[in-house]
Amino acid sequence: MINDAIIRAALRMRLATALCAAAVAALAFVGAAMAASVASPDGRIVVTVGVEEGRAYYAVAYDGAPLIAPSRLGLVFEDQHGFDRHLRIAETAASSRDETWEQPWGERRFVRDHHNELAVAFEATEGPARRMTVRFRVFDDGVGFRYEAPRQRNLKRVNIIDELTEFATPEDSTAWSIPSRGWNRYEYLYDAGPVGDIEIAHTPMTLKTAAGIYLSLHEAALVDYSAMSLKQQRPGRFKADLAPWSDGVLVRTETPFRSPWRTLHIADKATGLLNSDLVINLNEPNKLGDVSWVEPGKYVGIWWAMHIRDRSWGRDTIHGATTQETRRYIDFAAEHGFKGVLVEGWNIGWDGDWYNHGSLFSFTDAYPDFDLEALGAYAMERGVRLIGHHETSGDVANYEAQLEGALDLYEQVGVRAIKTGYVADGGLIERVDENGVRKYEWHDGQFMVDHHLRVIREAAARKISINPHEPVKDTGLRRTYPNWVTREGARGQEYNAWGQPPNPPEHTAILPFTRMLSGPMDFTPGIFDLEPNKRPPLREDMVRHDPQSRVETTLAKQLALYVVLYSPLQMAADLPENYEKRPEAFQFILDVPADWEESVALNGEIGDYVTFARKERGGEDWYIGSLTDENARTLSVPLEFLDADKTYIAEIYRDGADADWKTNPYPIAIEAREVTRETVLTLPLAPGGGAAARLRPAGK
Ligand code: NOJ
Ligand code: CA
Repeated sequence: MINDAIIRAALRMRLATALCAAAVAALAFVGAAMAASVASPDGRIVVTVGVEEGRAYYAVAYDGAPLIAPSRLGLVFEDQHGFDRHLRIAETAASSRDETWEQPWGERRFVRDHHNELAVAFEATEGPARRMTVRFRVFDDGVGFRYEAPRQRNLKRVNIIDELTEFATPEDSTAWSIPSRGWNRYEYLYDAGPVGDIEIAHTPMTLKTAAGIYLSLHEAALVDYSAMSLKQQRPGRFKADLAPWSDGVLVRTETPFRSPWRTLHIADKATGLLNSDLVINLNEPNKLGDVSWVEPGKYVGIWWAMHIRDRSWGRDTIHGATTQETRRYIDFAAEHGFKGVLVEGWNIGWDGDWYNHGSLFSFTDAYPDFDLEALGAYAMERGVRLIGHHETSGDVANYEAQLEGALDLYEQVGVRAIKTGYVADGGLIERVDENGVRKYEWHDGQFMVDHHLRVIREAAARKISINPHEPVKDTGLRRTYPNWVTREGARGQEYNAWGQPPNPPEHTAILPFTRMLSGPMDFTPGIFDLEPNKRPPLREDMVRHDPQSRVETTLAKQLALYVVLYSPLQMAADLPENYEKRPEAFQFILDVPADWEESVALNGEIGDYVTFARKERGGEDWYIGSLTDENARTLSVPLEFLDADKTYIAEIYRDGADADWKTNPYPIAIEAREVTRETVLTLPLAPGGGAAARLRPAGK
């Protein structure tokens, strides 16, 4: 057992370290063991790193009480000595940073990176000489640490066959998680319940401890490594479980290498998780140089029509991606100021069950009724751009073989953003190995982590941004590659067209505290016809989806999603005709920006409700989005974030009288009133409801 005295000694050091920003680390000898510690700038989080009986561990305390009990660190290699035992601390190095950096686009323009760092170099006491550093960064909002193996004589090529990292969380927590290694990738409903019920979970996995502390485990900067899931070993004690290659190896690498950062968001309020930049702060700065061609914005598209069976992806009398239909969407986009028009089903390969025939996709040959060149030009004449679409059905071999030509073609017709897709039952991806043999790999294994970055780099070379669906999870790489604008990676709106069950009202009250901690999501909000499957089929030989599949929100909540669920590409997902029927509510979608100067979560509890305020990038207007689960509630929202000495007009879109997602989802009250920073807005939210508001300076 690890000596409690080490932890206590480290806690006593907290005061000393908080007093002196530079001297953040201290080495303590307790018996034969050795430990070092580092505190957050505000002193509330203290990380202790040590060796006990030759095994490396870390522990985290928050406000003087243990939060993460001593948890193992280490890596195990195939056919050679790794860093699992016989270790000692060779040296430690402490440093601090307090810098502010600017995002080209994002939830906020300026991000403060304020942390204390402790790098602990471990060396082997038996076997061939070898060294590895574990680098800790401790922020006021959490902790990141990663493994770094330098180039060294006795370690060159390395196959990692186990990562020993543990997170010994409090046993009596409630957890919000989705299962890992399931056939449906990240597209599961979140389970909320005792942490002990979890077997293996994706990250971010979020906990609320019995003491009321919020903790979320994730990773940052997942590059050339396999994604980490969390497998419960004993109650509360999770171990890193990396997605294996098809031959069982977890990560193939060579020194020097670095693991992704293992991250712990820590907060005393649920909103503390949301008002955190931990993940992007742990990523490398922009590597693409000038990225002014990456354009946040809103888009419409030939998309929902397929999901609700009005149109087809493949050849049919109801084919969606025709030249004529695309022109209709381009005209609608131009008329209303949308920047993009997504078109799915334009290329050969969609006939039949496309999700099982990825090898049939051509990414350059259009169906005969779709004129790509003409439509690209038509769109640009109207100040709009086509948004490209590459569905692979998981056949990455087929996609990679065509990738460069496919990107070249889109570049030529003026496309600046492409949605990619990796629908594949089982979550397994096809590749062809060096010997021409087909292999199946996990959607979040090292092969796909590398594939996604390959696409990002090739696309960047052509000034194209990427929005992958069925992606690998976000780990903040948008900082390093700002053309990796958004992605799916959770159950999105599409489940409300055909999901059994569809997304329940609490789903979007859980996402901000789980999936969204990783980064932006292309959820595709804005459905105005909330029960599309109640309509009769278009043709006798067709059937609608079960009407149980419907949008389980009020109309006002669809508007709230534009502010709550951040994405720099934000879709207005419904059909043009459904927007034309409700011009007053549609006005909010037209007004709301997709890029922000500042963002702040004002209130929230996981799975219950949440409110965000965001200020438009380069402007004066603020926007509010507030939503609830299946329970009605009234939220008070103080407008303290507004400028003093300014009066604002608040245009409020809230649930109308007797609104209820289930029985009466459409009533919406739209009103304008004067507010100042002294105002406390009262927002009554219906069951499954929400509210949205635009606050603009009066007289503007
Ligand atoms: C799944 C995506 O999430 C969805 O948006 C897309 O329409 C289909 N795949 C087809 O590519
Ligand atoms: Ca999907």
